[in-house]
Amino acid sequence: MNEQVQNAGGDPLFNPLSPDFIRDPYPHYDRLRAIDPIHVTPFGQFVASRHADVSLVMRDKRFGKDFAERSRRRYSEKIMDEPVFRNLGHTMLQADPPDHTRLRGLVVKAFTARRVEDMRPRIQEVVDQTLDAMVDRGQMDLIRDFAFRLPVTIICDMLGIPEEHREGFHKGSSDGVRILDPVPLTPDEIKQGNARNLMAQMYFQQLFELRRRNPGDDLTTQLVQAEEDGNKLTNEELTANIMLLFVAGHETTVNLIGNGLLALHRNPDQLALLKARPELMTNAIEEFLRYDSSVQMTGRVALEDIEDLGGRQIPKGETVLCLLGSANRDPAVYPDRPDRLDVTRANVKPLSFGGGIHFCLGAQLARIEAEIAIATLLRRLPNLRIDDVENPKWRPTFVLRGLTQLPASW
Ligand code: HEM
Repeated sequence: MNEQVQNAGGDPLFNPLSPDFIRDPYPHYDRLRAIDPIHVTPFGQFVASRHADVSLVMRDKRFGKDFAERSRRRYSEKIMDEPVFRNLGHTMLQADPPDHTRLRGLVVKAFTARRVEDMRPRIQEVVDQTLDAMVDRGQMDLIRDFAFRLPVTIICDMLGIPEEHREGFHKGSSDGVRILDPVPLTPDEIKQGNARNLMAQMYFQQLFELRRRNPGDDLTTQLVQAEEDGNKLTNEELTANIMLLFVAGHETTVNLIGNGLLALHRNPDQLALLKARPELMTNAIEEFLRYDSSVQMTGRVALEDIEDLGGRQIPKGETVLCLLGSANRDPAVYPDRPDRLDVTRANVKPLSFGGGIHFCLGAQLARIEAEIAIATLLRRLPNLRIDDVENPKWRPTFVLRGLTQLPASW
């Protein structure tokens, strides 16, 4: 990452890609909430850090995504000709109603609580197989060897990606997610993003062909059939949303598992408590989501002039960044030491899965994956130690917060 990106315009309060911020964003959030809860960045974006404002902006219909217009304002008139932006613009994540309603409606049934509950045995099987291959080694990287494998396998199952195509996906996660960060991409990053996007599109077009010839009981077949139907889904929307599911399905859950394990090992009393009382695991997952969310931010555009958001006027067309990780530690909502990890905390309702119409489609799946992964690890490798809990290696991205590696031994 170059210096211009790391500096974020020299903003002393919100400099989210500086190494210090990435290492520990929470003292920065405390300052923002206290001093300037609706902060304006040098790029002219508004930054909401208090729980009440973040929650309101995500749910209020006066705010939306307006992705193409927002991108043009930030970059240039021609930005939507860049494949990586075009593709993101066709996802449900960046769509407003009625397109959003139509796109989400096509896949929502696969993610209902019931359907996801039914996946428990398969999730347990994948976790057990992963650990079977590791137990005799005495050491592993909890990110690459453990946390990553589960969500990738499950989303590949759901999308009907054949076993023989998966090896490449298991090797490591992409770096293409910086496009979600509040600091604009450099021309070089756009070029790299386009190249990665093209590669992924080529792969998924092959998968669509396969599923047209060989339909299966999977989401890709379902969407390919919706596209053939005529007016439900365009080819660009098909590709963009399958790619979204693939990326959203693992880039985030791997970090819920990784950040959760790191937090536990940095708080040995909580680790001991959870080992002694495994029934606390469901609540512990909510606390991990709150304490160090794997998604730190989302954003909305004001669709009309807003008279008062936390004391500021937001003109129509302006962007409000919503700091989920900051809202999750707001003492107004968590008066009992919000900076402390407490797996017994009552009424934990993190904003880590967003809110309103874009509330995370995979929330329940992510919770169950993390619950089974962490519970099984604690049970099967009770003596596991993380090698260096003080200086873990964070990925150089802000919105998706996670570790590049987390070596451990037992
Ligand atoms: C810990 C894990 C996860 C976290 C923290 C997370 C977080 C989020 C957040 C914050 C949003 C809303 C973004 C916005 O409002 O702009 C979102 C949307 C979304 N997530 Fe997740 N996610 C996780 C796991 C997953 C999984 C496992 C899947 C799918 C298999 C998934 C699929 C999606 C999709 C498709 C959307 C877009 C929904 C829409 O726009 O209607 N996510 N996620």
